[in-house]
Amino acid sequence: MSGPLIRVEDLHKSFGSKIVHNGVTFELEEGQTLTIIGGSGSGKSVLLKQIIGLIRPNSGHIFIDGEDITALDEFELQRVQMKMGYVFQEAALFDSLTVGENVAFGLRTIMEAEKQHALKIARQKLSMVGLQGVENLKPSQLSGGMKKRVGIARAIAMGPEILLYDEPTTGLDPVMSDVVSDLILKLKEESGTTAIAVTHDMKSAYKISDKIAMLFEGKILQIGSPEEIQNSSNAIVRQFIAGSSRGPIPVPRI
Ligand SMILES: Nc1ncnc2c1ncn2[C@@H]1O[C@H](COP(=O)(O)OP(=O)(O)OP(=O)(O)O)[C@@H](O)[C@H]1O
Ligand SMILES: [Mg+2]
Repeated sequence: MSGPLIRVEDLHKSFGSKIVHNGVTFELEEGQTLTIIGGSGSGKSVLLKQIIGLIRPNSGHIFIDGEDITALDEFELQRVQMKMGYVFQEAALFDSLTVGENVAFGLRTIMEAEKQHALKIARQKLSMVGLQGVENLKPSQLSGGMKKRVGIARAIAMGPEILLYDEPTTGLDPVMSDVVSDLILKLKEESGTTAIAVTHDMKSAYKISDKIAMLFEGKILQIGSPEEIQNSSNAIVRQFIAGSSRGPIPVPRI
């Protein structure tokens, strides 16, 4: 394939009068990891959900492997969705299923894999994320860090070309956050997966990303390598990455 694996072109999305995306454009080469940063409510999760086709844009295009998914019907969309794994912001595991059944879920329902075979693959994927012997536990018996890793195991269960991570390290202690960042890097190196991650965790963003894009007021304010973002001359980007309440970014008055 030539050209970018993912290309988002002039994306517009509103909910009622609330404009979330007002012309978002970027592209990502195969095998690269892009991290989207931006304030709470800036539209990071909505962007990921449009890329995987869970939310439809009002206008604009999303090309995956050269195919515009905004033009596809639900049935055709499913074929493209099978190339993608999605790690939800809230792990979104089924409480009534065991960890193993959660990871095996897509294999069973979408790929129609035989139960024992699907559970065997689930155990392999759990072991890839450093979790052994937990397949018979229920999600409620796991810590937050374990749930995040189960979410990643489920997302990689069907061997996706593209992984979308929504805040994979949020809520984790600094060491566990670094473990998850290393895991994201390992999956990229071992499987050549192309990834888009959303995070506020700048340490993780610098570690896992080939490119970082900042979403602000409905548009990509700046996109560049981690070094370019760290040395940005844009006052908004500088304030955001420094985590300061002082600067041009509007903050609530307390
Ligand atoms: N299904 C929906 N219906 C209506 N409004 C929505 C819906 N989903 C998201 N929004 C709105 O879109 C905006 C962007 O939401 P989004 O979840 O993408 O933010 P975010 O950047 O991921 O924030 P956070 O960092 O807090 O997760 C918010 O104002 C939110 O209220
Ligand atoms: Mg979000």
